[in-house]
Amino acid sequence: MERRSDWYSHPKYYEAIFGTDTEKEMDFLLALSRHHGTGGSLLLEPACGAGRLVAEAARRGFDVVGYDIAEPMLAHARRRLSPARRRHVRLFQSRMESFSAPELEGRVDLAFNLVSTFRYLDSEAAARAHLQSTRRLLKPDGVYALGFHLTDYARTTLERERWVGRVGRDTVICNTREGLPDRRLRRSPMRNRLRISGPGKDMLIETKWFFRTYDLAEARRLFRSAGLRVLAMYDFDYRLETPVGRNSNRLDRVFVLQPLPSTRGRKR
Ligand SMILES: C[S@@+](CC[C@H](N)C(=O)[O-])C[C@H]1O[C@@H](n2cnc3c(N)ncnc32)[C@H](O)[C@@H]1O
Repeated sequence: MERRSDWYSHPKYYEAIFGTDTEKEMDFLLALSRHHGTGGSLLLEPACGAGRLVAEAARRGFDVVGYDIAEPMLAHARRRLSPARRRHVRLFQSRMESFSAPELEGRVDLAFNLVSTFRYLDSEAAARAHLQSTRRLLKPDGVYALGFHLTDYARTTLERERWVGRVGRDTVICNTREGLPDRRLRRSPMRNRLRISGPGKDMLIETKWFFRTYDLAEARRLFRSAGLRVLAMYDFDYRLETPVGRNSNRLDRVFVLQPLPSTRGRKR
């Protein structure tokens, strides 16, 4: 068996798993922007990865800015765009904690960042810096849809998820495991295994990292300190008609964030 590490160096296998709900996610994001925000045409995706949502938004005629830390993911994103779509898209290599684009300040209608990617930011300072810089790019009534899995610090068992996808004649089996959270260090150990098998192929890509942990109170405090208020919350079923209530014990959340009125026009 061939062994590799770092799934973000293998975008086509990553997308075989995470690319399957792209249209549904974009339907939800656009409905959310119309309902809570401006419904306008300039979109931003921090940590856009291999560009599945960027390409989908461009296909629907939106202007999209995306950035990501991983060049292999961005290369895949560029390759998938036809010349006509490319006119709607700007892609940058950048980090969530330091992305800056003065020409976009106060112009973005909808920013979005799903599938727990925000939890890669490994300190309060990095997470706040990201939220503040995204807030500065939003229109005053624009919104940031931030989706991530909250932490139950009382949990005593591992959390596991399994998906199966296909790339051509290859089958991709994805197993993700979240270990027990460390409340003091505010992190959980993560492991992802992608097993790819097909004619003449047997490959294992194993990636390990830490995700930052948030319970609901920790998330809310952080958003407020970054000058953002929570307009609504949804589950990962992406249904606008069923928002998640304040006291729900569901851990999957999409937060709809908007600049606090007091921060409008404020740089920091
Ligand atoms: C789970 S993927 C999500 C990609 C895309 N948003 C999607 O929904 O398909 C996470 C992405 O975050 C990127 N990433 C991780 N840490 C980052 C950071 N500090 N700044 C920017 N991108 C980062 C990875 O390179 C990867 O492409």
